[in-house]
Amino acid sequence: MTSNQDNNGIRPAAGRLGILTPGLGAVATTFMAGVESIRRGHSKPIGSLTQMATIRLGKRTDNRSPLIKEFIPLASLEDIVFGAWDPIPDDALTAAKKAGVLDERDLAPVAEFLKAIVPMPAVFDNHYVTRINGANVKKGKTKRDLGEALRKDIREFKAKHKLDRLVVVWCASTEIYLKPGPAHATLAAFEQAMDANDDQIAPSMLYAWAALMEGVPFCNGAPNLSVDIPALLDLANEKGVPISGKDFKTGQTWLKTVIAPGIKARMLGLKGWYSTNILGNRDGEVLDDPASFKTKEESKLSVLHTILQPDKYPDLYKDFSHVVRINYYPPRGDNKEGWDNIDIVGWMNYPMQIKVNFLCRDSILAAPIVLDLALFSDFAHRAGMKGIQEWLSFYYKSPMTAAGLQPEHDLFIQQTKLKNTLRHLMGEEQITHLGLEYYA
Ligand SMILES: NC(=O)c1ccc[n+]([C@@H]2O[C@H](COP(=O)([O-])OP(=O)(O)OC[C@H]3O[C@@H](n4cnc5c(N)ncnc54)[C@H](O)[C@@H]3O)[C@@H](O)[C@H]2O)c1
Repeated sequence: MTSNQDNNGIRPAAGRLGILTPGLGAVATTFMAGVESIRRGHSKPIGSLTQMATIRLGKRTDNRSPLIKEFIPLASLEDIVFGAWDPIPDDALTAAKKAGVLDERDLAPVAEFLKAIVPMPAVFDNHYVTRINGANVKKGKTKRDLGEALRKDIREFKAKHKLDRLVVVWCASTEIYLKPGPAHATLAAFEQAMDANDDQIAPSMLYAWAALMEGVPFCNGAPNLSVDIPALLDLANEKGVPISGKDFKTGQTWLKTVIAPGIKARMLGLKGWYSTNILGNRDGEVLDDPASFKTKEESKLSVLHTILQPDKYPDLYKDFSHVVRINYYPPRGDNKEGWDNIDIVGWMNYPMQIKVNFLCRDSILAAPIVLDLALFSDFAHRAGMKGIQEWLSFYYKSPMTAAGLQPEHDLFIQQTKLKNTLRHLMGEEQITHLGLEYYA
């Protein structure tokens, strides 16, 4: 902790922080088990910037590079309390075992802890996620009633666990593809649509609405619209609450946003990028439904165009072919295997190929992102930030931006933006890497 903690108008991270996840599946349980295991000293928070990354301050010659968690007032892992909603009534231990991400030897020491996390009845509707069936579901005459029931859950959870603050991180299944429409345009239209049980109001939007109404930051780990509609953006601004999304940037897309900027930085051309994966977890099963896959596909396809800017560089990137496939293949469980074939073009138009074969573990990559998003969103809230947190684009495949702006996808630009936001909030100089101190 630094003496800056009370400065810059940022409220200190005193008291307990509740992290609520709609969805208690592979990602959420891996996240919760991991945090508890770290708290007990059984593992290190690998993959988490809030826990492991440093941040350079001042000139290179100053030699000031504290850990981020020592530079900004973040909630401590010890102060986190977990809760969830899920239509499947399994407690977190049962759900983690079914997800098959973590080995028995890692689950055993935290088994009692996980067992105590029992999901609250979900707002769930098969129309939006066809491949899941569960009985742990709220009943209500209208979507507004269901949203109000979620608000009540949030308030009761806060009171029961004597929490100071809360964050909601969507870790539930990907819903079918919805386009922003009139029901999403204003808060009044949205609330009217809730009363009328309009199909355009998906469960994820009700969770987002409930969180914002309760003054709780909302992060969206899936590609469904949820909080990414004008009505809820207005509500976030009105209530002074940070929001961010969409879709955790983990395996193949994360690597895409590392490799594509490298190709572009050297002004090499691209003829095509073919990505395919096999995935056998429940997420893979949900994405096997074409309507849910369409939501995911939109999210995965958008990154290359914004990084490569074909309109600015037609000679290099006009009309490149970009194909993304996800194949549900049960034997692999959560251990996704991805293949990328990248056809690039060099000097005098000579073709070259890059092949990437990534044997990743989806939830192992996603868990630290959930932690960082929750801690940074809570920090942003205490710092008085509201609305879309573009500096958290680093964590998302389809970053939310203000209307009319292109999202930034390049991982290293995103990282610079994230760290510069922290420097700015703490009253430190931003680092542009333009310093001329060595040449003076
Ligand atoms: N793991 C990754 O690398 C990664 C990356 C990006 C996005 N995501 C997204 O994160 C989400 C979670 O992934 P996962 O692997 O944990 O999936 P999962 O299927 O293991 O868990 C999702 C859980 O959400 C529950 N659920 C569905 N609808 C719900 C609702 N309306 N309310 C509450 N719970 C609901 C399901 O019953 C299930 O238990 C998915 O949308 C996935 O696309 C994951």
